Amino acid sequence: MKTIVGLLLVALIAAWYFMGTGVYNMAATEKHWPITEKLIEWVRINSIAARASELEIPAMDDTEIMMTGATHYDAMCTDCHLSPVQASTELSQGLYPQAPVFHLRQPLISPEDLQEQSKAYFWVIKNGIKMTAMPAWGLTHDDHTIWAMAFFVQRMGNMSANQYKELTHGSGDHPHTNKHHHEHKHELDIDLELELEHDRHDEHD
Ligand code: HEC
Repeated sequence: MKTIVGLLLVALIAAWYFMGTGVYNMAATEKHWPITEKLIEWVRINSIAARASELEIPAMDDTEIMMTGATHYDAMCTDCHLSPVQASTELSQGLYPQAPVFHLRQPLISPEDLQEQSKAYFWVIKNGIKMTAMPAWGLTHDDHTIWAMAFFVQRMGNMSANQYKELTHGSGDHPHTNKHHHEHKHELDIDLELELEHDRHDEHD
């Protein structure tokens, strides 16, 4: 009994030293030990699988996946996950953990594996992943859009630059490609206008 209490006390002091004195380095450039990385990965995979398994996969036709999925992916995800037309970005290089590059992944073959993967992708896109920079897009996007992105990401495996360009409507200057940025820009414009109006009123006061 005494030994157990003694050991617990030592563990507590070690934990306090580790967490409270700043000896632990939180820098993104300071990698975990390989064993810690494996442990985190194991926890992440099991946690996502447990939550994603309950999901119902909706039916969606190809045109819809490509229209909604590709457009949104191109507007919101490429800074981190890149695309067949973008090899690397300043943001993507600094991430730890690194964001997976979907177009370099081998597409899965078995229908069961594909279903499991689409559910896991949907769950991750909707809810994000703690402490990794992967955002929760479910706060701002409906399930339909998120499923379209999950299906699109699955289809990126081995995608060529030409295929990608065709799906996202070319070089990036097509209005559809930056639809999202446009929408957000409008919101910004409205905010700015309101603010200016507010200032004008203030001047009159
Ligand atoms: C700011 C960077 C960033 C942005 C933007 C981002 N992601 Fe991620 N994403 C990550 C990182 C980092 C991971 C890996 C997390 C990990 O390893 O635990 C990740 C993981 C994922 C995964 C899980 C992959 C797997 O193998 O389980 C999916 C799916 C995903 N992202 C889709 C998207 C989609 C779709 C978008 C755009 C709507 C997006 N991400 C935008 C950083 C980002």
